[in-house]
Amino acid sequence: MTDHLTIVEHPLVQHKLTLMRQAGTPTAGFRQLLREISQLLAYEVTRELKMTTRRIDTPMAAMDAPVLAGKKLALISILRAGNGLLDGVLELIPSARVGFVGLYRDEATLKPVQYYFKVPEGLEDRLVITLDPMLATGNSSAAAVDLLKRAGAGNIRFLCLLAAPEGVARMKEAHPDVPIVTAAVDERLNEKGYIVPGLGDAGDRMFGTR
Ligand code: URA
Repeated sequence: MTDHLTIVEHPLVQHKLTLMRQAGTPTAGFRQLLREISQLLAYEVTRELKMTTRRIDTPMAAMDAPVLAGKKLALISILRAGNGLLDGVLELIPSARVGFVGLYRDEATLKPVQYYFKVPEGLEDRLVITLDPMLATGNSSAAAVDLLKRAGAGNIRFLCLLAAPEGVARMKEAHPDVPIVTAAVDERLNEKGYIVPGLGDAGDRMFGTR
């Protein structure tokens, strides 16, 4: 994957995103849509996975059939909203290894601080897909990718549902080697760091905490 930003314009993705944006969509519907859309986005983010062949027997003949090459990939959920993307992607790639990164914002310094970090071994040999539905300021996303690189990851992709131009720019500056795959890039951030028009707080909408 060479482009820094891929917007998945598939009609199913765009339709589902519109349903998710609507303020009246209930929690259960929002979660179900996120699961469905995450699989369509995962299809795109894994498009260029390396392949090899395996000798197999069909009922008719032997053949060299394509299979994924290399170590199992790693899915890293940025807590807590990343978990909303994780379930759907794991359904599609059930053998993936899974890690979690928890960050909060220090109100004095406004910098992201790590409170949880548990990732699979051997990150240096895996494709690492970082999951966070909302790429807003990009500060916590950039910090999470910093932590993953420090843990050895060298081949990282960032999968999100919605991005703000500010977040895309921040990631491009901090991690130009990390391609972003998203369903849309919205207009802007508001003064509280929410994406506009966006869909509100993704965590609250998927978990019903509001
Ligand atoms: N996080 C969210 O959940 N929503 C936004 O709009 C921005 C960050």
